[in-house]
Amino acid sequence: MKQDPRFPNLFITNHPLIQHKLSHMRAKDTSTRTFRELLKEITLLMGYEITRDLPLTTRTIETPLMTLDAPVIAGKKLAIVPVLRAGIGMSDGLLNLIPSARVGHIGVYRDPDTHQPVEYLVRLPDLAERTFILCDPMVATGNSAVHAVDVLKSRGVKDEQIIFLALVAAPEGITVFQNAHPGVKIYCASLDSHLNDHAYIVPGLGDAGDRIFGTK
Ligand code: URA
Repeated sequence: MKQDPRFPNLFITNHPLIQHKLSHMRAKDTSTRTFRELLKEITLLMGYEITRDLPLTTRTIETPLMTLDAPVIAGKKLAIVPVLRAGIGMSDGLLNLIPSARVGHIGVYRDPDTHQPVEYLVRLPDLAERTFILCDPMVATGNSAVHAVDVLKSRGVKDEQIIFLALVAAPEGITVFQNAHPGVKIYCASLDSHLNDHAYIVPGLGDAGDRIFGTK
C-alpha cells in the first residue's frame, strides 16, 4: 500500500496484479465485458486489502476436537454502498468477498454544467455498529464522494465506520474529499495526474459508467 505525503488518509493499493488489470481497463479498445470483469477482479483484490484492519472478536465454537474461542469480525459486519451508477461495478466484486454484507444504494448524478452532485435515491440498511464501504470507481471533482459520505454522516455514521473505495482518483478530488472529511479513509488503485476542462480524470479511463454498462 502506497501513500502520498499530501494526502494522509489516502491509501493507494499498488499491488502488481491490480496495476496490471487497471492498465487493461484504461486501454480504450477494451470491451465492455472485459472492463466489467476486470473491475470486479480489482475490487475483490482491493477489498482484501481494505478489510485487513477490521476489528476481530471471538465466538465460542465446537470444532470436532475441542471448544475454541475462534476469531470473527466484530460488530454488525459490513454494509456495501455503491454510489450509482458506476459504483455497482465495484459492489459485485466486494460481494464475492463478503457475500453476507448488506447493500445500500446512493444515487447521485453529476450535473453536466455545474459538476455538482444531484441526489435521486438513498436506501440504506440499519446503521448501528456497521462499517460502511462506499464505492465509486472515479473520484474526479470529489463532489459525489463528499456527498455520499455526507449522506451517511447526516444519519449518525461516524468517520471511523466509513471506508471509501475508488479505482482512480484525481488530486483535485482527493483535496476536496480530504478537506470535507479528513477522518475518512479513502483507497484507490491509482492517483492520476489531473482533471481536464470537462472534469474527466487524465489519463483516467473515460466515463466509468459508460464503459461498465456499454452506454454512450
Ligand atoms: N467520472 C468518470 O467516469 N470518469 C472521469 O474521468 C471522471 C468522472
